[in-house]
Amino acid sequence: MLKIAFSDSTPAKTGALVVGLTQDGSFTAAGAELDEKTGGMLTRAVEIAAFKGKKFKILEVLAPQGLSNSRVLVIGMGDPASLTEQDLIDTGGAVTAHLLACGEEQASCLIGDAKGAPDAAQRAALGAYGGLLRAYRFDKYKTKEGEDEKPKLKKITLHLSDKAAAKQVFKPLEAIAKGVYRTRDLVSEPANAIYPKSFVAVARKLSQLDLKISVLGRKEMEKLGMGSLLGVAQGSAQEPQLLVLEWRGAADPEAAPVAICGKGVTFDTGGISLKPAANMEDMKWDMGGAGVVIGLMEALARRKAKANVIGFCGLVENMPDGNAQRPGDIVTSASGQTIEIINTDAEGRLVLADVLWYAQKEFKPKLVVDLATLTGAIIVALGKEYAGLFGNDDDLCGQLTAAGESVAEPLWRMPLGEAYDRSIDSDAADMKNTGNRAGGSITAAQFLQRFIDEGRPWAHLDIAGTTWLEKSKHTAAKGASAFGVRLLDRFIADNYED
Ligand code: BES
Ligand code: MN
Ligand code: ZN
Repeated sequence: MLKIAFSDSTPAKTGALVVGLTQDGSFTAAGAELDEKTGGMLTRAVEIAAFKGKKFKILEVLAPQGLSNSRVLVIGMGDPASLTEQDLIDTGGAVTAHLLACGEEQASCLIGDAKGAPDAAQRAALGAYGGLLRAYRFDKYKTKEGEDEKPKLKKITLHLSDKAAAKQVFKPLEAIAKGVYRTRDLVSEPANAIYPKSFVAVARKLSQLDLKISVLGRKEMEKLGMGSLLGVAQGSAQEPQLLVLEWRGAADPEAAPVAICGKGVTFDTGGISLKPAANMEDMKWDMGGAGVVIGLMEALARRKAKANVIGFCGLVENMPDGNAQRPGDIVTSASGQTIEIINTDAEGRLVLADVLWYAQKEFKPKLVVDLATLTGAIIVALGKEYAGLFGNDDDLCGQLTAAGESVAEPLWRMPLGEAYDRSIDSDAADMKNTGNRAGGSITAAQFLQRFIDEGRPWAHLDIAGTTWLEKSKHTAAKGASAFGVRLLDRFIADNYED
């Protein structure tokens, strides 16, 4: 992990210096000082480049005269009074992306005290957090990268007078970043490395953080009658697992918990309803929901959240061997409801059906949120910016939407209703696992709702479009985004902590 330090002494004489410029053309206090020290060099550079200080834009001055540092980066701060927390995080991400690209080993950020902006400690900590989020890279399998291809950035130091205050703000943010890294690692790993049992092995290491880990294997799930989940696992050589991670940080550890359930299909071939070959490799990240659950639980445990939260991961590989489930098969879920399998590629809902049942029956949660890379149809509907939000409770949906908005993991609410629900009625069983093509992500959500107890608040996030980034953004390089970890951490912090 990139090293972050907060310092109240003079910045390093090597590496990059970073200062801010607001859109009214004034440097932050530290920037003005540096400008003076260099005889107005920064002012000249800003003029010559017609740099306007727009947020996230960077002006780079190489080999600055009178300084031994290799470069000065002037980062645009826009209108500092209107910068949101997320803007500050994105600013840190933008600076870090630039430092990674230009091959710097270290940087010293001079945090000024611009009028109207949040205090320096807050800005330093949020910027550092954005830097951490952006610096993640999954390169463990790249054995032939030359030294100059590898990113060299080791350390970012943020200079301000009250370093203790900055550290204080940064501590819980670093905890969340560690959770995000965990999720990205799991989502990035290929399916020959991460399968149900190896996923569980990663979780077991987290018991050091006072997370209680328990696991149901095939036998235990058979006893509970989880025919829906087990039917998906039937065509794979990998034993399925139902992983439970418990964090009880509330004043009353017995108080009803929040349940978070994740789809953990460690590889989705489609089963007998086999997917086409093109892009099938993407289905290594069909465990993105479960990946978020584990990263979220790690974040909550690391920052010692004052809430009771239980994470559930339904871990299964969907493969088409001689024992695989067939279209037309009828399975009985643990809830007792029977399901006619129309398409074995609609497997995520089959896994979640039994996980949702178990979470409610065993733990009586005050509410349930599930996350799943559930449908391609949600990408057709919303593209890759918003995740789909479905739910039976307006307050819960409002809380989730607000949390998503504040951490730039936006949700868009989708409808549910009886007419959609009727389209998954089956002639042969209680329901079938797909509707017709129309409204594919809605009928998938209707299916899940059939496993939610009457009166229990529930929300479903379809993250198929947001789990994997094709293009980098400020807070994440392309690849696994961990969309959902920061959102749910905020959701818990804002609504369910003592
Ligand atoms: N894991 C897929 C959904 C998916 C597609 C996630 C693309 C990420 C990117 C899911 O299991 C699936 O195959 N859904 C089918 C459902 C259909 C058979 C009703 C789909 O979306 O096509
Ligand atoms: Mn599928
Ligand atoms: Zn799937």
